[in-house]
Amino acid sequence: MADTVWWKSGTVYQVYPRSFQDSDGDGIGDLRGITRRLDYLAWLGVDAVWISPFYPSPMADFGYDVADYCGVDPLFGTLEDFDALVAEAHFRRLKVILDFVPNHTSIAHPWFVDSRASRTSPKRNWYIWRDPAPDGGPPNNWISNFGGPAWSRDAATGQYYYHAFLREQPDLNWRNPEVRAAMHDVLRFWLDRGVDGFRVDVIWHLMKDEGFRDNPANPGFTSGQAEINRFTQVYSADRPEIFDVIAEMRAVLAPYGDRVLIGEIYLPVERLVAYYGADLAGVDLPFNFQLIQTPWNARSVAELVVAYEDALPPGGWPNWVLGNHDQPRIAARVGAAQASIAAMLLLTLRGTPTLYYGDEIGLAHVPIPPDRVQDPWERNEPGHGRDPERTPMQWDDSPNAGFSVGEPWLPLSADAVARNVELQCDDARSLLTLYRRLLRLRRDYTALSTGGFRSLPSSNAFVFAYERHDADTTLRILLNFSASPQTVSDTGAYGGAWTVLLSTHTDRASSLHANDLVLEANEGLMLIRGWS
Ligand code: GLC
Ligand code: MG
Repeated sequence: MADTVWWKSGTVYQVYPRSFQDSDGDGIGDLRGITRRLDYLAWLGVDAVWISPFYPSPMADFGYDVADYCGVDPLFGTLEDFDALVAEAHFRRLKVILDFVPNHTSIAHPWFVDSRASRTSPKRNWYIWRDPAPDGGPPNNWISNFGGPAWSRDAATGQYYYHAFLREQPDLNWRNPEVRAAMHDVLRFWLDRGVDGFRVDVIWHLMKDEGFRDNPANPGFTSGQAEINRFTQVYSADRPEIFDVIAEMRAVLAPYGDRVLIGEIYLPVERLVAYYGADLAGVDLPFNFQLIQTPWNARSVAELVVAYEDALPPGGWPNWVLGNHDQPRIAARVGAAQASIAAMLLLTLRGTPTLYYGDEIGLAHVPIPPDRVQDPWERNEPGHGRDPERTPMQWDDSPNAGFSVGEPWLPLSADAVARNVELQCDDARSLLTLYRRLLRLRRDYTALSTGGFRSLPSSNAFVFAYERHDADTTLRILLNFSASPQTVSDTGAYGGAWTVLLSTHTDRASSLHANDLVLEANEGLMLIRGWS
């Protein structure tokens, strides 16, 4: 029987709040703006909206440096605005998922202000303080994810504090039960306000090696990579003790019913699946970023999908992600023609899909002039910045694409007048229409949302073919990863037995006549067995 838990059958849509919709003309998106656009999300056909951080923050890392876990930064609005957003979302049957950032706070958080004040402060042990190495340098060789040492010496007490990211983002000490209790209260604060779950920021980082051993050198490191890759993160992350921490979070959510816990985890498949936990006591969905990291061709993607399916623990529910606020846009990576293939892949694989705002209209890489760079990572390590995938949503052809009446905090893409929601929503051939149709089919066919998956053998190296099925329906998906027509002759007799349910190429006829099937260049097809 199909499992109907919402976070298994549903689709998640990520909103980066600075860039979705501005309501007050300051050029920065806000909560009221998101509320205004909920009708759009309902129309599109997603089921949940995950909102990146909107908490009070000095914005050193644009909200991933939290100064108060239980508030709303005035830039984004008020708690009343948040409550209204939740109510309006729920009215439209949309779930609301918050971004929970437990690994680190802002240096401006009162806990850290207290912690750094003296070695005997009651909050001293809420963060990670160590004496200098004998030579006065940092306690070990750990590197910040944004480049440079992960330790900063604090003049007030002469000790170093650890920060896996910016020096403005000190790591909390999750070995301290007081920290855990305080963070559980944060979860309850938002659960009591009606949120439907959390995406937990860098969850695999929470526990570090108790002995703070040096990380080993990474033999695969090459000079173009970010500095963090110089060492393999063996001791600074993915420690066995993490699973107790996650089980405790799950226990906090449990009394609230169907809430979801999603973990941000950048690890290879075999480590990633460990985060489902023993007896599935881990996160519900360990974010699967493999599609982002795998070369874009039919063979590699097919191998990845099968390897991931095989690695899942019994009962572990899969999930797929094509983009987020930290990764180059999918349309930039694979090109406009393949963006439709990516859409069909994301929304027809088995597992919960997460869409990143703007990908549905094909937003691509937006070049950022040097004087408009915002991301601190770009300043530390040029070329690694994330601004190009964080630019404002493009709604219509009014000034600033309808995002804001003020100057947007990041530039719009140059094609905003030609690439926006208003234009694409009425265009049967647009990417937005394709996304909407796919989302509609996921609701119409449980074979697609919660059904089984079977990879089909393909003699054509450019085509990835698979089946989705339940008791009533069998669907076949064929994706041409190449820019030339491809013939599929080895996956069965198509003439008569199968009907076209959806093609990325809207001019394709619905009936198939030949045994061989010819896919157009960059074409994706969804077929249904029978009813021709
Ligand atoms: C996560 C976030 C990223 C942030 C980092 C530090 O990876 O997605 O945007 O910079 O954590 O909080
Ligand atoms: Mg605003």
